[in-house]
Amino acid sequence: MPDTLPFFLNFLHPLLMWALLALSGYALFLGIKAKKTRTADAEQRKELIKGKFGQRHFQIGSIVLAVTVLGSFGGMAVTYLNNGKLFVSPHLLVGIGMVCLIAVAASLSPLILKGNLVARKAHVGLNMTLMTLFLWQAVTGMQIVNKIWTDR
Ligand code: HEM
Ligand code: HEM
Repeated sequence: MPDTLPFFLNFLHPLLMWALLALSGYALFLGIKAKKTRTADAEQRKELIKGKFGQRHFQIGSIVLAVTVLGSFGGMAVTYLNNGKLFVSPHLLVGIGMVCLIAVAASLSPLILKGNLVARKAHVGLNMTLMTLFLWQAVTGMQIVNKIWTDR
């Protein structure tokens, strides 16, 4: 590894992405609560609506979107600075795939808020795929961390 890059920078992306996994889990929780609110009977709805789960989900979701895009490109930047090239690895390809998924899922927001059922179902499907890939990404990501640590 060239001396130009401080060693600790290698751990910025992994730490950020673990935090993002937790935040994405929270977004999922809020999304499920938003659905509960939407489908509840009048009595339950009165209680649930106070939680503002839909708005909170949208806000946290927006942060998840931004950090996914920036964190992913940050990972590529670090790999490039370390090696002068990128490796076409599962972690790179799945990472790029995840950025595409969340971009499309987020772009459906205006339609979802207008009550479009297809957009809503597509949003959930895309983001459930995203969460599944995220777990896989954590595994391959830790394999890279391990390699950087043992090769240092
Ligand atoms: C971690 C990824 C995400 C997951 C797992 C997720 C999941 C969900 C779920 C389960 C719902 C409820 C669907 C229903 O009512 O049937 C929902 C609604 C929604 N999501 Fe997401 N979502 C994610 C990210 C995002 C992002 C990035 C945005 C936009 C920036 C977003 C915007 C919305 C909006 C606007 C709604 C409608 C809320 C309402 O009914 O008031 N979500 N999402
Ligand atoms: C907890 C989960 C994750 C861990 C531990 C992790 C770890 C790593 C590590 C160690 C690198 C090498 C660059 C560096 O030294 O910092 C890397 C690169 C990269 N990561 Fe992650 N990552 C995780 C999640 C993600 C996620 C969720 C995405 C995309 C949404 C992503 C996208 C990328 C990309 C595109 C690269 C550059 C290509 C490569 O080096 O293979 N990572 N990751």
